[in-house]
Amino acid sequence: MKKLSARRRHPLAALVVLLLALACTGGLYAVFAPADKAQADDTAQSLAIEEGKKLYAVGCASCHGTGGQGSSDGPSLVGVGAAAVDFQVGTGRMPAQQPGAQVPRKKVIYSQAEIDQLAAYVASLGAGPAVPAGDKYSPEGADSARGGELFRNNCAQCHNFTGKGGALTRGKYAPGLEGVDPKHIYEAMQTGPQNMPAFPDTTLSEQNKKDIIAYLDAVNGDKTVNPGGLSLGGLGPVSEGLFGWIFGLGTCIAVAVWVAARTAKARKS
Ligand code: HEC
Ligand code: HEC
Repeated sequence: MKKLSARRRHPLAALVVLLLALACTGGLYAVFAPADKAQADDTAQSLAIEEGKKLYAVGCASCHGTGGQGSSDGPSLVGVGAAAVDFQVGTGRMPAQQPGAQVPRKKVIYSQAEIDQLAAYVASLGAGPAVPAGDKYSPEGADSARGGELFRNNCAQCHNFTGKGGALTRGKYAPGLEGVDPKHIYEAMQTGPQNMPAFPDTTLSEQNKKDIIAYLDAVNGDKTVNPGGLSLGGLGPVSEGLFGWIFGLGTCIAVAVWVAARTAKARKS
């Protein structure tokens, strides 16, 4: 007993215990975890690609080519990445229907599981941005005030100050952003659909994207909160200016007329 406690107090005892514990954890991990999981992931992935390929052949190949190489009816999908597919199919834009200036949002016809499979197949054609994980677009740790600044600098010229949307040239338009899924906002920035420029992480960091999403959530989320009072449609300086002119200036004129009328009356009497 005495011997043991003496050894316990040996200066190297703590180190030995630590090393043993580390070796145990490492050994257990090697035995149980990675090999199986990696293999399972691999098979799940190739299954998804297989299924996606079938869906693709039926719904997309007619425009985007049998191997995603593109055709006269649709651009090449090699290297657009899973995020582009998740955005385009998840917002109902794809499969496109009638030709026009711009492919509109419409009812989504694939389930999320099928979209994931389509995305896996397209991602297998060439590397591109992946579908973002949930923590990338959650409002946690985001700064919506900074997001507002970033939005006014990068997005407002097309989408308007609070994301109401607006017309562009040649029959195209930047859609309103109210009610758009945060994941799709993130993906739109990653992939730059149609006339919209892409904002890769080198232009807008992950944190910046998160801040912008938090800003859009703040201005479009809860309609009952409007810190500036009347929202005036959220259209920015034009409607605010008009309001200022009509009501502000109108009130000034009314007051001036009233004062003048009173002084005139006072002089007469
Ligand atoms: C009727 C033809 C048509 C069909 C069917 C179609 N697409 Fe498209 N797709 C287009 C066109 C045209 C565009 C380009 C739109 C644009 O940028 O104006 C496009 C764009 C895309 C993009 C964006 C590419 C990029 O560079 O970001 C993706 C991703 C996409 N399609 C995926 C699909 C998938 C997946 C399907 C099947 C579910 C599909 N499309 C079905 C015509 C089609
Ligand atoms: C040059 C104009 C332009 C700029 C700048 C721009 N966008 Fe867009 N945006 C568009 C157009 C055009 C579309 C429609 C694309 C389509 O239909 O495929 C769009 C679509 C979107 C969508 C998809 C909305 C939906 O209905 O599914 C989101 C989200 C979005 N933009 C967010 C942003 C954000 C955030 C920024 C700034 C970081 C930004 N955009 C900057 C033009 C622009």
